Amino acid sequence: MDQTEAQRRYFDSHAASYDEYTAAGAWTPNQYLAGVLESLTAGGVEVRTALDLGTGTGQTLAAVRAAFPQATLWASDLSPAMLRRAALKVPDARFEVADISSHVAGLTESFDLVTAIGCLEMVPDLMTVLPQLMDHVNPGGHLALTIEPLIDGAGAEHAAHPHSSADTDEPRWRYTWSTARLLHALPGGQLRSSHLFTAYHRASRPVLYELLLIGKG
Ligand SMILES: C[S@@+](CC[C@H](N)C(=O)[O-])C[C@H]1O[C@@H](n2cnc3c(N)ncnc32)[C@H](O)[C@@H]1O
Repeated sequence: MDQTEAQRRYFDSHAASYDEYTAAGAWTPNQYLAGVLESLTAGGVEVRTALDLGTGTGQTLAAVRAAFPQATLWASDLSPAMLRRAALKVPDARFEVADISSHVAGLTESFDLVTAIGCLEMVPDLMTVLPQLMDHVNPGGHLALTIEPLIDGAGAEHAAHPHSSADTDEPRWRYTWSTARLLHALPGGQLRSSHLFTAYHRASRPVLYELLLIGKG
C-alpha cells in the first residue's frame, strides 16, 4: 500500500471520532486561524473565492465560512469519509476528493484565499506543490498555512520521520520544513504573520505548529 492510500484509510477510519477527539482545546490550529482571518477582515481584505486543502471534517472550512459569509468556497481532502462530515458543516462549499499534490496540479480556478491547516506535513513533494499553488492565488490574495516547523535541525532544511508504532498508530510520515525553505517555494509571497503554538499532543508530547499568513503581491 502506498503512502497516500495508507493516509486515506487512516483518516477514513478516524472520521467518525475526529470532531470529538479534537474538541475541548485538544486541537488548537483553527482557533489561531480564526484570529488571522479576523485580521484580514479588520484590514478590509475582500475574499470572494477561497480554497481549503486537507479539509477533514470541515473545522477549517467552517472558520473560513464564518469570516467570509459571502465567499464561494472550494474544499478537498483525500478522505471521502472526512469530507462527508465537512459537507454537513458547510453544505454550500464545492467538495473534491483528491490528494493535495494532484488537486493542486489540476487546478483551473484562482483564489483570494487558500487555507491548508494540519495537512501539509503529510505532503512529501510539498516544495513542488507550493509554487504551483502560488500560481492560483490572485494578486492581493493570501495563503494561511500550517507546517511542523524545523527549528532545531542544526542546519538541515528538510526531515522526514517514519512513524513509530511505539508512539502512535498513525500510518504516515511527517515532513518538517524550515520557514525559510517554505517561503522560498512561494515566489512573490510576503510573510505577513507567523504564530508558533502547540497544536495538539501526540503520544503525550506537544506538537509544535507554525501558522503562516503569506500575502501575494
Ligand atoms: C489533521 S486533519 C486537519 C483537517 C482540518 N483542516 C482541521 O483543521 O480540522 C488532516 C486532514 O488532511 C488530510 N490529508 C492528509 N494528507 C493529505 C494529502 N496528501 N492530500 C489531501 N488530504 C490529505 C486528511 O485526510 C485529514 O482529513
